Amino acid sequence: MKKKVVVTGAAGFIGSHLCEKLVSDGYEVSGIDCFTDYYDPARKRQNIEGLLKNDCFSLIEQDINSCDLLSVLAGADCVFHLAAQAGVRRSWGAEFSHYVQLNILATQKILEAIRKLGGIRLVYSSSSSVYGETQDLPMKEDHRLRPISPYGATKLSGEDLCELYYHNYGIRYVALRYFTVYGPRQRPDMAFSRFITSAFQGGGIEIYGDGKQTRDFTFVSDAVEANVLASRYEGDERVFNIGGGSRVSILEVLEIIESETGKTLNVEFTQRALGDVTDTWADTSRASSELGFSPHISLREGLAREVGWYREYLGV
Ligand SMILES: NC(=O)c1ccc[n+]([C@@H]2O[C@H](COP(=O)([O-])OP(=O)(O)OC[C@H]3O[C@@H](n4cnc5c(N)ncnc54)[C@H](O)[C@@H]3O)[C@@H](O)[C@H]2O)c1
Repeated sequence: MKKKVVVTGAAGFIGSHLCEKLVSDGYEVSGIDCFTDYYDPARKRQNIEGLLKNDCFSLIEQDINSCDLLSVLAGADCVFHLAAQAGVRRSWGAEFSHYVQLNILATQKILEAIRKLGGIRLVYSSSSSVYGETQDLPMKEDHRLRPISPYGATKLSGEDLCELYYHNYGIRYVALRYFTVYGPRQRPDMAFSRFITSAFQGGGIEIYGDGKQTRDFTFVSDAVEANVLASRYEGDERVFNIGGGSRVSILEVLEIIESETGKTLNVEFTQRALGDVTDTWADTSRASSELGFSPHISLREGLAREVGWYREYLGV
């Protein structure tokens, strides 16, 4: 009999890739997604078009906060919890209540359901944003955590909840701190998506800051692989950095995109956005030694794949 797993945020960027991988690995996948309007839900419907044709995938189109999680999770071996309100810049002001609802309250609901059912593992999608602004690079899992955005604070609360349910109820979980994930179907609000779309469709590109800020970029199939490895992990560590090993500046990214698209970008530098950190750089030695994780896709290759996907998506 096939093992059942649950993926929350199944129609999102990373979640849809993870569901495809799990289905092709022979799992029966129940995907939960409520198609929030953080970005166009039509894109999310496209993300799972292929999955919906597969008998091993079923979609539960509901909000985690209001669905009957006990029946959805019953019989599952593992829950991959990716559902969240992503994005640093929009997490300020009145919008914060959505972040609390979708990132903190929903995570607590998942943990409560796992506690009641027992025997289910959890892989929680966390973020490099839990580290905040630091010059102590590369970032290690045991570094001080001091998020500088409301989004980062909610992702850290999710980690804290996982840890306290582990401590009190023995729930087995792994938290994966992703460092900027990119690739085909990347969220449209993310930098690469905006840059590539502008390259093909024209219009200016707004760069927040001077472009010298650096990021460790992770190709989506590497982030997916980390989830699969985490679901089988039997060791004692609970938190892992997941980075692509490609730490470059935004200016370097622009150069690669110009060369991959053959277009000249029209760049405008604006004020740095509140909550954006200067640099991210993952120390992935723990993930390497404990999970057997190693990123396979270089930034140039990954960007070529994302540009190729966008060519098809935009019909250019
Ligand atoms: N993309 C990145 O670079 C990155 C980096 C660090 C961490 N993360 C984390 O990875 C996860 C996936 O990110 P993504 O980029 O694929 O985002 P995404 O917005 O594409 O996917 C999230 C999905 O979750 C769904 N969702 C949100 N709240 C829900 C709820 N309460 N009930 C049901 N569905 C809900 C949304 O509709 C969406 O389809 C998130 O937890 C995010 O915080 C992403």
